[in-house]
Amino acid sequence: MQFDPEDPFNIAELDRGLIETPFAGKLHFFPSIHSTNTYAMQQAEAGAPEGTVYFADEQTAGRGRGAHKWSSPPGSGLYVSILLRPGIPPADVLWLSLAAGLAVRDAVMQVTSLACDLRWPNDLLFGPRKFCGILTELNAEVTRIRHLVIGIGINVHQRQFPSELSQIATSLQIETGRAWPRQDLLTALLQSLHREVITLTDFTQSEAAKQSILCRLEKASSWVRGKQVRVEETDGFEGVTEGLDTRGFLQVRTPHGLRTVFSGGVRETRNVRGK
Ligand code: BTN
Repeated sequence: MQFDPEDPFNIAELDRGLIETPFAGKLHFFPSIHSTNTYAMQQAEAGAPEGTVYFADEQTAGRGRGAHKWSSPPGSGLYVSILLRPGIPPADVLWLSLAAGLAVRDAVMQVTSLACDLRWPNDLLFGPRKFCGILTELNAEVTRIRHLVIGIGINVHQRQFPSELSQIATSLQIETGRAWPRQDLLTALLQSLHREVITLTDFTQSEAAKQSILCRLEKASSWVRGKQVRVEETDGFEGVTEGLDTRGFLQVRTPHGLRTVFSGGVRETRNVRGK
């Protein structure tokens, strides 16, 4: 079948593909919106049900982690936010966020047959260039999550990026030389995310689910061990990655001992120094 360059979404078909998930019948599409995450957090506050999915063809104020923007031109990417109300402690949210990264990896593999790298906590890359980012936002008490939004941005059709992004960003089109329907990616992603959420939030399976996440990240990510990195926290530091701890946090060996990365991201330092 000929690929339509506008790559439209067919909501009825999406619903059918998601029939065995809580997302069926709860899909909300926007031709243009400021940010699906901002909107999802507002709707969650107003009582929208668990499993509601907000996605858009364009975001005019797409947000990334920290104070970063997420470039979201029309017809180019998948911009989606998923509202969950999981019955897990707020301390376990990192697991959901790590699982979302694995779900995207799985979806991209299913659709394109490409295996990508994962940079803790949940950037997805081909080589040094990022094509997907995940922003997980939370409204919680100390012991109870009221709601949580997992926002996922995937660069799909971009053929090039503005000069400030060209060295650090890529897309599925650039990596494979062809177009992939966003509809297929979204279906595979939501199915895969559903499988991750089910096991993590079922207390009889959650410990096994965490072990499985640790195991899969060790296998799939070149960043978890032996990578010389700079940690971008307030008192940034450098070291070599040394696995994830039992809570899912990245461990970095520094000249002053083993440190845990609690926030911020990591950047490779070897290339920067030309070693
Ligand atoms: C990052 O890597 O900094 C996270 C990027 C997250 C972008 C997605 S696109 C859909 C959702 N809406 C937003 O405003 N942000 C997330």
